[in-house]
Amino acid sequence: KKRIGILTSGGDCAGLNAVIRAVVHHAVGTYNWDVIGIREATQGLMSDPPRFIQFELDKLDNLLLMGGTILGTTNKGDPFAFPMNDGTVRDRSSDIINGYHSLGLDALIGIGGDGSLAILRRLAQQGGINLVGIPKTIDNDVGATEVSIGFDTATNIATEALDRLHFTAASHNRVMILEVMGRDAGHIALAAGIAGGADVILIPEIPYKIEKVCQKIRARQEKGKHFCLVMVSEAVRTEVGEQVSKLKQFGEDRLGGIGKYIAEQIGAKTGAETRVTVLGHIQRGGIPSPMDRLLGSAFGVAAVDLIAQGKFDQMVAWQNRQILSVPIAEAIQTYRTVDPEETLVKTARGLGICLGD
Ligand code: F6P
Repeated sequence: KKRIGILTSGGDCAGLNAVIRAVVHHAVGTYNWDVIGIREATQGLMSDPPRFIQFELDKLDNLLLMGGTILGTTNKGDPFAFPMNDGTVRDRSSDIINGYHSLGLDALIGIGGDGSLAILRRLAQQGGINLVGIPKTIDNDVGATEVSIGFDTATNIATEALDRLHFTAASHNRVMILEVMGRDAGHIALAAGIAGGADVILIPEIPYKIEKVCQKIRARQEKGKHFCLVMVSEAVRTEVGEQVSKLKQFGEDRLGGIGKYIAEQIGAKTGAETRVTVLGHIQRGGIPSPMDRLLGSAFGVAAVDLIAQGKFDQMVAWQNRQILSVPIAEAIQTYRTVDPEETLVKTARGLGICLGD
């Protein structure tokens, strides 16, 4: 009888619990294995004794609907240079590897983004861990898969935010700026911007000129439309390649500065009244969308099947309407940003949406 572990690592997102549920259903229900849920990712494994729960098939109520991760997660610290409480830094990789082996695990399912998957893979290679990866991140930037868990829900939330801003913008003749997450990839902003009818969408992959944004606002004003919806991804860059979030006057804080900076420029150059909404972690929370539940279920089942086949160092992926597996190395070597030639960019241009270039 096999005994497998599962952990969720890095920033949370909607759909993680759907993956956990699917893994337990298939591993326990189909194969009669034991499934051990590791608490707070590698931190649970480095604890002595390791922190975990044993899943039971009849205790999975509501998991499909629950946001976040019931296992907890962490994106604090690289285990190879782990920040200790006394201010020193230590390599804790062997503690994690020992934790895995002390639990008597035959394999480990790691649900993570590119950073977490890279760390888990390094640990697996160093410590003989049979690892299978599942991609998750609202940013949708993991390579070798068209979609990761959490992206669809985040995009739905950002679209709904734009829908809500639409009416208040129109009522007050305001330029509404919505700042969304995505790290260095503009997938959420682009998809939700198109779906929510944004007039301007700024993404990190296409450096913007503020004058182009203002031209769009003025063109609308001339047509008697005195409101405008501007979608801004958190790491946008100006035409001189300056990352706006890093601009000194708006502080070092990654979130919340960019939208404000752009709003002030728009206000000064067009005379429009502006308001900024920073969507923040609302994008990561809440009930997973049907698509994330579906993808989470499919990824969970496929990951268990990979273990049954003895295929390790692989990540489940979604490509061309099917689930397949790819080497984790392939997934983490490419950071999947928006390709300026891709369909959604062309769609946005075709709709007359200003992309700032
Ligand atoms: O990677 C997911 C993400 O939500 C990014 O979009 C965002 O930049 C970052 O994490 C926020 O991190 P934290 O939850 O640590 O504030």
